Amino acid sequence: MKEVKTNRSNAVVQKRVEPKISLDDFPTPPWATRSVCEWLEQKGIDIANMKVREPAANRGHMVKPLSEYFREVEGSDIHDYGYGFPVRNFVTEEDFSEVDFTITNPPFILAKDFVEKALRTSKIGVAVIVRLAFIEGKDRYNNLFKEKPPSYLLQYVERVGMCKGTIKKDVSTATAYCWLVWLKDDDSGECKINWIEPCRERLERDDDYPPETVSPEISNYGNLFEEL
Ligand SMILES: C[S@@+](CC[C@H](N)C(=O)[O-])C[C@H]1O[C@@H](n2cnc3c(N)ncnc32)[C@H](O)[C@@H]1O
Repeated sequence: MKEVKTNRSNAVVQKRVEPKISLDDFPTPPWATRSVCEWLEQKGIDIANMKVREPAANRGHMVKPLSEYFREVEGSDIHDYGYGFPVRNFVTEEDFSEVDFTITNPPFILAKDFVEKALRTSKIGVAVIVRLAFIEGKDRYNNLFKEKPPSYLLQYVERVGMCKGTIKKDVSTATAYCWLVWLKDDDSGECKINWIEPCRERLERDDDYPPETVSPEISNYGNLFEEL
């Protein structure tokens, strides 16, 4: 991760520029996952009776909050971070069964493949948290958004701080994240924008954050993209 201090603020511009072989090990703070679950509930989607898949489960920082809202959560990851999730490649393995929802923070360079696979294997919908910059780009427009626009773009009004290899409460960032949500029963072909109202203070818990930081061997691990 390249960090750049801006002139006008103390915020760190986190350029999530990872080498091609990287696992893109940037976990999501749990309050951000709780916020999308609340949004889905407010839309009247009965997630309490649904099974959700988190196919890039990492250290379980999304799986845990998802389990607070969904009936069942299935987690897996291409790398074993030591948290007991099955090691599976979501892009190349074919035998992922159908679930109701897929919710994840995908590795940036594979996010389009993750969305396509998730749409094929989810009955009700898909939600991915991505840098806002993900909606730019001719390639993604021509090969994803033009044919399959998300039903909603959920823009945070607060910043979601992500850092490599762990989650921290005090990350200052100038990078904007949003959720892209595809709902299978929405055939409008239009992407609506909603805002996620300030909710961090209400949804964040002190015990969300591990006291220790991740070992360098894990955070620097990465040669698995070579096989893709
Ligand atoms: C941005 S991190 C997000 C982790 C987790 N979803 C979270 O938000 O806390 C991306 C994760 O994708 C995993 N990953 C990368 N390529 C993958 C693949 N082809 N199949 C499954 N997981 C993959 C990495 O190991 C990493 O844990």
